[in-house]
Amino acid sequence: MSKKVLIAYGTKMGATATIAAVIGSELRAAGHQVDVREVGAVLAVSEYDAVVVGSAVYQSRWRPEVVHFLRHHERQLRNRPVWLFHSGPIGPSKNQDQPLPPDVVRLARLIQAAPVKTFAGELQADAVTARLSHRAELEHLISDSRDWPKIRTWSREIATALQPPRAEAAGNGPPVAAGK
Ligand SMILES: Cc1cc2nc3c(=O)[nH]c(=O)nc-3n(C[C@H](O)[C@H](O)[C@H](O)COP(=O)(O)O)c2cc1C
Repeated sequence: MSKKVLIAYGTKMGATATIAAVIGSELRAAGHQVDVREVGAVLAVSEYDAVVVGSAVYQSRWRPEVVHFLRHHERQLRNRPVWLFHSGPIGPSKNQDQPLPPDVVRLARLIQAAPVKTFAGELQADAVTARLSHRAELEHLISDSRDWPKIRTWSREIATALQPPRAEAAGNGPPVAAGK
């Protein structure tokens, strides 16, 4: 049976928004009804069967609006399956899991979310230009490290977890006798 899924994200430069959109298209392809929204545009999560929440990572922190979203909707999120991801590492550390900030660790525990998934991110030249004081440290990191196959695989794992077991999907009718 199709589930209604919310994918809520927080971004500064857009990389996380595109990751959220790709997760959404995979879940839609698996037959689910999906809304992809920036966290600030979500008023309630009660209409959804499951929620995926993602944030960009800056200075080892999640976007404040995403932390606010988790805090604000904590009770509702606790009552439904929740998956978390962050888009962060770039450059040489792009394949390493990014540790969760302490405030997110606490909220993830309260919500009983699945283990957080780390996706490598993207650093755009514009972001570097806007931070002239850090230009020298950042310039060599300008790249798009987003790993689309990894993102699609994780999305399909969520789609599979949302599917009811086969027997339930087929109903509880009597078995059809062999040969009929
Ligand atoms: C000033 C600055 C600080 C960053 N700090 C971190 C960090 O602490 N950890 C990390 O994994 N990535 C860090 N990044 C990389 C971003 O998280 C990455 O580029 C991300 O994909 C951006 O997402 P967005 O385009 O959705 O905002 C930083 C990037 C910039 C420009």
